[in-house]
Amino acid sequence: MIFDEEINQTIRFMKPSGIRKFFDIAATKKGVVSLGVGEPDFITPWHIREAAIHAIEKGRTFYTGNKGLPVLQEAICDYYRRKFNVTYDPRENVMVTVGGSEGIDVVLRALCQPGDEVILPTPAYVAYAAIIEMAGAKVVEVELKEEERFKLTPEALKAAITEKTKAVILNFPGNPTGGVMSREDYAGIVPILKESGIFAITDEIYAELTYEGKHVSLAEYDEVKDRTVVINGFSKAYSMTGYRIGYILAHKDLIEMFNKVHQYTIMCASTPSQYAAIEAAYNGDDDIEEMFMSFRHRRNYIVKELNRIGLKTHMPEGAFYVFPSVKCSGMSSQEFCEKLLDEENLALVPGDAFGQAGEGYVRISYAYSLEEIKTAIEKLEHFLAVHS
Ligand SMILES: Cc1ncc(COP(=O)(O)O)c(C=O)c1O
Repeated sequence: MIFDEEINQTIRFMKPSGIRKFFDIAATKKGVVSLGVGEPDFITPWHIREAAIHAIEKGRTFYTGNKGLPVLQEAICDYYRRKFNVTYDPRENVMVTVGGSEGIDVVLRALCQPGDEVILPTPAYVAYAAIIEMAGAKVVEVELKEEERFKLTPEALKAAITEKTKAVILNFPGNPTGGVMSREDYAGIVPILKESGIFAITDEIYAELTYEGKHVSLAEYDEVKDRTVVINGFSKAYSMTGYRIGYILAHKDLIEMFNKVHQYTIMCASTPSQYAAIEAAYNGDDDIEEMFMSFRHRRNYIVKELNRIGLKTHMPEGAFYVFPSVKCSGMSSQEFCEKLLDEENLALVPGDAFGQAGEGYVRISYAYSLEEIKTAIEKLEHFLAVHS
């Protein structure tokens, strides 16, 4: 690269996303079956699409306030109260963002300074580590273990906290493991958060896809609420990935700081999409239920089938990913996925794309039709037979 010396050196040495890199290879091949992308396969429910169309027809095409439309701020607070029993003030505690993605970026950039450490339980969604580094902070990985159902334990959290720790990132239900934290699990974590005074950034984007019991939001715990920053959005729950609407819920003083970053970089989220999100938040419960049932059915099917063909797979309690171990093949995650793509035309994501703790696993998204899932299982079964 001719600009190597001039470019920001953090960006220069940043590894490209392990997911993207892999799908670039897949895109050059014909007839590839992919269970790689974490995006619901449903078209956005019609009444939500109609709300966006209607907004455009009515000429609601101007900037909104930086923090989002007041009606959407209210709808988000109403949703959190109704669903998770958490109260926030629509004017003080909410900022609408361009997807959960912008939320993660804004929060980390506003909180972190060079020298800070951010605890990242891994395997983790690929954006966190990159954004922590771009914010000038250091990633401190904590391994989530399969035998602990990919939950964060109090012991692991405590051991990772140092004087430099600024925050911990929690993502439950989690991408890529489907791990979930129950009320009992949080009972061990919350006192440590309180005592240490670190921020907890809780990415609850898969909250609606909690299969056993109800999602527990960390913001429910009053003793740590001031230092809890919730990130959520409409992409996964309502199948609205392309609308790019997310939000941050936090203490009003933090929201003011986040808004500084947001107003200079983004201005505001897309206006027609915000109208669609209002419709989703108020009238989308039945859609969520329908998609939930379908995902749960696919989860049960794929876990049963993967175990049948010999890939040990734990039953994920949330999100729409399974994380089978491929250690039985004797191959590394990368090798397994490369050979699978090469020989069977099947694209999965190597587990190490989500941090070193993901080595020995692959991520399979079941946000695909049952037909595609069945085809993928056949290909995997053939692949394992050839390599046994
Ligand atoms: C854990 C997690 N957080 C955030 C996002 C970003 O979602 P969006 O920006 O579409 O709201 C994703 C997307 O895959 C994710 O898996």
